[in-house]
Amino acid sequence: MAQTFETVGVVGLGTMGAGIAEVFARAGVQVIGVEADDAALDRGRGHLDRSTGRAVTKGKLTEDDRSEILGRITLTTSREDLADADLVIEAIPEIMEFKRGLFADLDRICKPSAVLATNTSSLSVTAIAASTSRPGRVIGMHFFNPAPVMKLVEVVHTVVTDDGLADDIAALARRLGKTPITAGDRAGFVVNRLLLGYLNHACALLESGLAGRDDIDAAMKLGVGLPMGPFTLLDLIGLDTSYEVCEVLFRETRDRRHAPAPVLRELVTAGLLGRKTGRGFYSDAEGAPAAEGDRRAASVSTVGIVGAGPEAAALVAALDGAGFKAVVAENSDLAPVADADVIVALSDRPIVELAVRIPHPDRLAGLHLVGDDVAEVASTVLTSEETAGAVRDLVKILGRTPVMCGDRAEFVVNALLYAYLNDAVRMLESGYASAGDIDTGMRLGCGYPAGPLEMLDAIGLETVRDGLRALYAEYREPSFAPVPLLDQLVTAGVPSIREYAG
Ligand code: 3HC
Repeated sequence: MAQTFETVGVVGLGTMGAGIAEVFARAGVQVIGVEADDAALDRGRGHLDRSTGRAVTKGKLTEDDRSEILGRITLTTSREDLADADLVIEAIPEIMEFKRGLFADLDRICKPSAVLATNTSSLSVTAIAASTSRPGRVIGMHFFNPAPVMKLVEVVHTVVTDDGLADDIAALARRLGKTPITAGDRAGFVVNRLLLGYLNHACALLESGLAGRDDIDAAMKLGVGLPMGPFTLLDLIGLDTSYEVCEVLFRETRDRRHAPAPVLRELVTAGLLGRKTGRGFYSDAEGAPAAEGDRRAASVSTVGIVGAGPEAAALVAALDGAGFKAVVAENSDLAPVADADVIVALSDRPIVELAVRIPHPDRLAGLHLVGDDVAEVASTVLTSEETAGAVRDLVKILGRTPVMCGDRAEFVVNALLYAYLNDAVRMLESGYASAGDIDTGMRLGCGYPAGPLEMLDAIGLETVRDGLRALYAEYREPSFAPVPLLDQLVTAGVPSIREYAG
């Protein structure tokens, strides 16, 4: 018979633990929240008060509902109070030694039928289970930050998990209003394995100087429609947790892209952990960026456009409408734009080859339109600051957000996006997760507008495959090479990876 869970313990009431306690209490479950000492318990109470208070302020909860929810949560510093719990979820720091010590303790305290679950982001559930005398009753129940908001729970089973337990925990997740996906005990499970590779890649691009923090964040948020840019999200997750997940991923995959970016180590060592310490990539004290006037475009009257087709025509019309004189040239003959004040080459590939063919290479920048809201502005080593500034201002005049970057393969958006999509295909190809679970995981775990395989189908398999080839040719990073499955689908003319995966 399916096991039901009426009393649930949560050990560790940091951001995640408090969020998990709230989720259970909202679903009518009695919760016992445990912290190490009174000070930590007070902090946990603070998280609960703030989160439910915010819901009242927003009119999502009445004061009565709030009191009822908080009334279902008993707070204690004694683990012994968990003796009668049907399920205990651990949400303490990601240190294996601590987790194993806690689980050995819970194994002693909790009744034999109780299930012991870990909310670990990436540590081995099997290793945690092995510290108990009931490894079959130990499972991963992985929530996403902020737990009250994100709709996904990853249910992580090991090779020794009792039959049926993953189904019972999945049913419980549904009762909490969440969607479960099940995953095996591999580093990062489904979501963190894809997410942290991408976030770490963003750190590497930042460190390489390709683009700045705000540009990369704007590119991914506005260009791809993600709820947050990578650095804002890293700050939300916590840089210590992010570092740890990357470290665990790297140990398992030996993929250099998972080796935590040095900037993460530096920030973590300096105690700048993100939102929880008030400073990480961003600082709470930081004001909004100063507004910049459209200064440099003021000296521009003629804009040269290298490009063809509807994108070039639309740009000409928009520039005309904004009072600029637009002249157009095609790649094969750049003479018509040679004397323009600034020249933009519409391209999703590096443009330095064009720069060396014109008399004023300092006046040329690449322009890559991303969706309806963003334009990447790529500077070659010859582009002058004046030109880059003028093109940035023109982009703003045209109603798009400029993303300033270097002239490298796939610039910012596609470099980050395509590598992530390739990782998703690799996961599918390895048989580790189904197409549906991969897509659901990223949509509900991270609030993405679409899952990676849905995005791949929408962009086009061949476009992504060719972009990956260009990335690989430039960076020689083995994991940028298109996964064989992607290559084969393109060669075979299969238009949809999700249809192929069934
Ligand atoms: N606690 C409770 N509720 C919160 C909250 C919090 N910390 N933060 C936001 N909310 C609620 C708000 O009250 C609001 O609720 P409403 O729609 O009912 O009014 C809703 O979330 C939207 O919040 P806001 O309007 O203030 O802000 P946004 O629209 O910018 O949304 C966000 C905030 C939900 C965090 C959104 O930006 C998002 O989805 N970001 C992506 C988060 C993500 O990727 N999480 C996964 C990280 S990976 C992970 O956790 C795994 C780990 O192992 C590393």
